[in-house]
This record gives sequence, structure tokens and C-alpha cells, in this order.
Amino acid sequence: MLIKNPQASRRAYPDDLRAVMNIKSAQESGIWLSHWNQINRSVTPLWDLPDAAEAFGIAQLCLKDESVRSPLGSFKALGAPVALMRLIARLWSSEAMFDPRVLINGGYSGLLEGLTVISATDGNHGKSLAAAAQAIGCRCVIVLHANVSVEREKSIAAYNAEIIRISGNYDESVEHAAHLAQTNGWHVVSDTSYEGYEAIPRDVMQGYGVIPDEVVAQLESSPSKAPFTHVFLQGGVGGLAAGIATYFWEHYGVQRPTFIVVEPQQADCLYQSAIEGYATTATGSVDSVMAGLACGEASPLAWKFLEPCVDHFMTISDDDAVKAMQTLARGTERDAPLVVGESGAAGYAGVTVLAQNPEQAREVGLTSESRVLVISTEGATAPNTYSELVGESAQSVLARQQEWLQGCAVR
Ligand SMILES: Cc1ncc(COP(=O)(O)O)c(C=O)c1O
Repeated sequence: MLIKNPQASRRAYPDDLRAVMNIKSAQESGIWLSHWNQINRSVTPLWDLPDAAEAFGIAQLCLKDESVRSPLGSFKALGAPVALMRLIARLWSSEAMFDPRVLINGGYSGLLEGLTVISATDGNHGKSLAAAAQAIGCRCVIVLHANVSVEREKSIAAYNAEIIRISGNYDESVEHAAHLAQTNGWHVVSDTSYEGYEAIPRDVMQGYGVIPDEVVAQLESSPSKAPFTHVFLQGGVGGLAAGIATYFWEHYGVQRPTFIVVEPQQADCLYQSAIEGYATTATGSVDSVMAGLACGEASPLAWKFLEPCVDHFMTISDDDAVKAMQTLARGTERDAPLVVGESGAAGYAGVTVLAQNPEQAREVGLTSESRVLVISTEGATAPNTYSELVGESAQSVLARQQEWLQGCAVR
């Protein structure tokens, strides 16, 4: 399913939005995060996939590979840690000045012993929050809904977080975390907003701005320097899409790329928000193989940024996502084999679906001149699920990637 968003326009990035989300804060987030040993020092690769572009009938297809951003395995490593650092700075603003480098490396742990942070998660956000809390030296409680796999639970618990499992869905886990925080005087560090709760999700989204900041620099140092005409962004509650789209919108202004948000059919809260004209809930079961995108309620804060600039919203099936994972893992002579997880593959799956449907491709303006960016937001964050779905382990795909790179060096 594909719809055009009637509210999207091509004006310059408005000042009232810039006051909340802006390139300056995104770059500051990048500097703060660079002090953390869980963030890799080098920028993440921007893979050119010429064979895929040719098959889709477009000029270029690039994939920004967030699987290698951090040992945590996903782009979420850019969100919760910086939001937690900014929360601590706000909480102690009258007593202490925190040096971000010292803070993220546990230098103030004595002061922060009594601090407990809590969040609901479908996996990646909670893992990043748990890892950041452990590094900083505060307590972390993570609320998991019924569909989060045991494999994902273990990977969060490995960072010393206390796990609470509920029988309900993602949105109920968000409510449960908010209730526990209120009862116990804990602090919610969530990637989704709700009434009266916006500062932390804003900081989470702002952290994701590191990705487009790198993309712009990578393009500037590329031979053609040609900007992307289309950016496909997968949507859970909308934070990733808002963090990336606002950066490109501010940077390129009226020349911004066309933005297309891709969601699972069963968790289409952003698609439904575009139909209704306000942040609303999904129509489906909210149970998808794309675990990170299985969110039933759009973040109202993210929606504030998405509504005026996302040109199209589309949904894909679980099967589309799995096929995209398999295609990317396989690679071709000119396209490297890539480890892309279930939610990570959604943007690429969105391009595939449109390219196979000429009418829809025309509707979003995909032509032989189009230069398309997709973001792989995770690698094999649930390694057993990855192996089952792809029919090969992530290690084996990575070994083939190494061979492919050596082949390139020889050619
Ligand atoms: C791998 C991955 N991609 C994309 C998303 C979507 O991000 P958001 O919920 O901010 O829209 C998530 C969310 O958890 C995720 O884990």
C-alpha cells in the first residue's frame, strides 16, 4: 500500500521546527557519543549497489550500513545514550557541570548511584539504554512486551539491566514503564513521546542525526557529489525517520530529497497518521518479523516533523522484508554481501516493492535519473532469527563480504 501525504510541502525548514531539532544539536550529539567506547571511531559505510540500481531501473542505490556503528548492532546506539547524558546534565544542572567524556566513561558513577532509568523496548533501544546506563553507572530497568524474543531479552540483560516482562503489546509496555517510573521516582528514557513527555524523545531523535551528517560528508567527498533524490526510511514510532528527514530538510531546504516512510502492514501507525492527519494508532495486529518496527502508536513529537515533509507512506509485508534480507546477504558481482536485520531491510524492501510496480514507481517519481538512499538500521541483532530467515549465519555472510572486498582490491 502506498499513499501520498497531502500535507508534505517543499518549503524551507521552518524556524519553529529548527528550534526543536537542528543540525547543530545533531553534531553536538555526535561529539558527545564519540567519547563512548561502544561507538566505532570510523564512519559507517555507504555501500554503492550498482547491480540493484540497474535491476530497479534507477541511477544509483546506496545503503548506509548501521550494523557496524557499534557492537550493539544497530543505529539505536546513537539515541538512548545521548538522551541519558542530556537527562543527567538537566537533573544535576544546579549542582554539577558534567564533562560528557567523563560521564559516559563512568567518572561520575558515585554521584549517580541512586538514579534509576526505565524504558519499554522492542529490543534495540532497550539494549542501548542498558549499555549506556552500565557505562555511566546508574540502574536500568527494561520493560518487554510479550513478542520480544528470549534472544533479544538475553542480549539486553547482558548489560546488567533488570528485565520486567508483561503479557501485553509494545504500547502497553510503554504505559507500564511510565507507571513504574511515576510510582518509584524513576526516569523514563523512551524513544517515543506522549503528552507532557517530549524532551527525552527529542534528544533520542537528535542523536540519529549523526547518520545524515555522515552521509552529507560522504557525498561531498564522492566523485559525483550528486545528492540523493529519494530517501527511504523505515518507521516504528517515527523517531528514526524524523531524525534523518529533519537533518536533510534543514541542509537542502526546498531542494530536499523525496522522503518515503516504510512500515510493516500490521504496524502501520505512521501510514494511518497520514490518512487521519494526526498521530494515531495502527490498524493491524502490530506483530511483525520486523521487530523494531512493530509499534502500534506513532510518536506525536516525531509526527510533528514527519507530517510536513514525508511525501509518501507505504507498507510492506514480512515476506518483502525477509526477501530483502536474503537478497542483500547474497550480494552480486558488483554489490557486496551485507548483513541486514529484519527491520534494517525495510527501506530496501520498500524500493524493491515500488520498482516492481511501475505505476507506484511513477507516483513517487522513481526514474532512471533517481539516486536513492536506504539505511540499514541494524545487522543481525537477533543472530538465530537472522540465520533462520536468511539460511546462512551472519558470520558466514561477513566472511563472503571479506572475500568480495578482496576481489575488488584485485580487480
Ligand atoms: C532496527 C530498527 N530500525 C528502525 C526502527 C524504527 O525506529 P523508530 O521507532 O524511531 O521509528 C527501530 C526501532 O526500534 C529499529 O530497532
